[in-house]
Amino acid sequence: QDDQFKKVVSHAKEYGYVFQSSEIYDGLSAVYDYAQNGAELKKNIRDYWWKAMVQMHDNIVGIDSSIFMHPTTWKASGHVDAFNDPLIDNKDSKKRYRADVLIEDYCAKIETKIDKEVDKAAKRFGDAFNKDEFISTNPRVVGYYDKIKTILSRMAKSLEAEDLADVKALIEELEIADPLTGSRNWTEVKQFNLMFGTKLGASAESAMDLYLRPETAQGIFVNFLNVQKSGRMKIPFGIAQTGKAFRNEIVARQFIFRMREFEQMEMQFFIKPGTQQEWFEYWKEARMKWHLSLGMEAENYRFHDHEKLAHYADAATDIEFKFPFGFKELEGIHSRTDFDLKQHEKFSGKKLQYFDHEMNESYTPYVLETSIGLDRMFLAVFSNALVEEELENNTTRTVLKLPAVLAPIKAAILPLVKKDGLPEVARQIMEDLKWDFNVDYDEKDAVGRRYRRQDANGTPFCITVDHDTLEDNTVTIRHRDTMEQTRVKIEDLREIIRKEVDV
Ligand code: GAP
Repeated sequence: QDDQFKKVVSHAKEYGYVFQSSEIYDGLSAVYDYAQNGAELKKNIRDYWWKAMVQMHDNIVGIDSSIFMHPTTWKASGHVDAFNDPLIDNKDSKKRYRADVLIEDYCAKIETKIDKEVDKAAKRFGDAFNKDEFISTNPRVVGYYDKIKTILSRMAKSLEAEDLADVKALIEELEIADPLTGSRNWTEVKQFNLMFGTKLGASAESAMDLYLRPETAQGIFVNFLNVQKSGRMKIPFGIAQTGKAFRNEIVARQFIFRMREFEQMEMQFFIKPGTQQEWFEYWKEARMKWHLSLGMEAENYRFHDHEKLAHYADAATDIEFKFPFGFKELEGIHSRTDFDLKQHEKFSGKKLQYFDHEMNESYTPYVLETSIGLDRMFLAVFSNALVEEELENNTTRTVLKLPAVLAPIKAAILPLVKKDGLPEVARQIMEDLKWDFNVDYDEKDAVGRRYRRQDANGTPFCITVDHDTLEDNTVTIRHRDTMEQTRVKIEDLREIIRKEVDV
């Protein structure tokens, strides 16, 4: 599992999908950049979602609200008071530390001890010293590593379960010292708000405290009435949007699974009170169908119904996906009642109700929410697609079996050799196809190596131009997953590709 995850991370870098942000400055923790292929894959996932949610539903419209919102939004939504992670107070130094930072610091101290053992042994054994072997066999070092692993996994589990008592017990058990004063007098576990604060305004006196939005949903709630009126929407109807959200996450060490800056794809479905159970079931099924339509096997998904509900919800489930590190939440489906609209009504003093002409009465709609992390979906698709195949001739090939509809490049056009007019024909094919698809031209290296490169890049089709092409206007088209090659007419290429990549 660990190995597969490492392969995913390094493949994402090697093939221009995901880079560590500001890598030349040693990166920024839990922040990543999407590279040339990653940006395309991410865009294709977003478009696939948008098409299914907005284009295919005549009662769902899409908006694009701002990241900055009036600060009262977050009081109304409950994020100022209830969107917290544990923080530890030190009575003596009056300093506060985040639990994860403290424990990581403690683990770093254990790692220093390991380094010392390694240095000592290297001196003792001289040339005969094998570091890898020493680390994996020396009982003291193995013991240190086990300790780190146990501590980190216990901390991650209790933080995820919001079990603050366990975090506190762990800290006491470890007797973690204040990294600055050496004091061991930790007292209370407090709460640390997950929202990033910033300021709006030029001068310190007039500046207004703002938050970067921790979810896109609130941009939909505050626009509910504007959209309903301007779009003359009738209940039930939905408002969808995709966009960045920011959370100062505590446990953020699983690549793009949990980031501090990420993107959500959310839809709020406004319904008549009392119909929420029906719509909850509807959206559970509809969202699962969407996932399965991508052709990633059903055994990779499962529902996880919540027993403990958030303050705003009367039913909630997660769609979990089998990531390389196990089943984890990919999407949330929440029945949010009228909590958000009522709260915004209370804090804004504006009426946020819907007038139902058939019933001839006004009411505050209930809301069914579907919320999926775009980056998490990216990781699901990418990690599931990456496979190493044993071939008949005893070699292996690395293939990124991305669903064709999501692949960054749909086809690569390859002249068999770089002469005899083949590049010109290949370029002409590219010129023709690029109006419809993202295509690539590749003439470097032997054709076999180019196929492998495109396999690893996830390109569903390779189109090879050879000397026969000059005679009969046909080319070889090779399918990434089956490696099957067929001879087709140049004029049929567009239709052949379209069949696979269109939904
Ligand atoms: N509006 C509801 C909401 O925001 P959530 O369960 O907190 O609910 C929804 O988030 C989805 O957003 C999650 O299922 C996950 O896919 C994604 N998500 C949340 N936090 C994330 C993070 N730090 N990094 C990447 N994706 C995240």
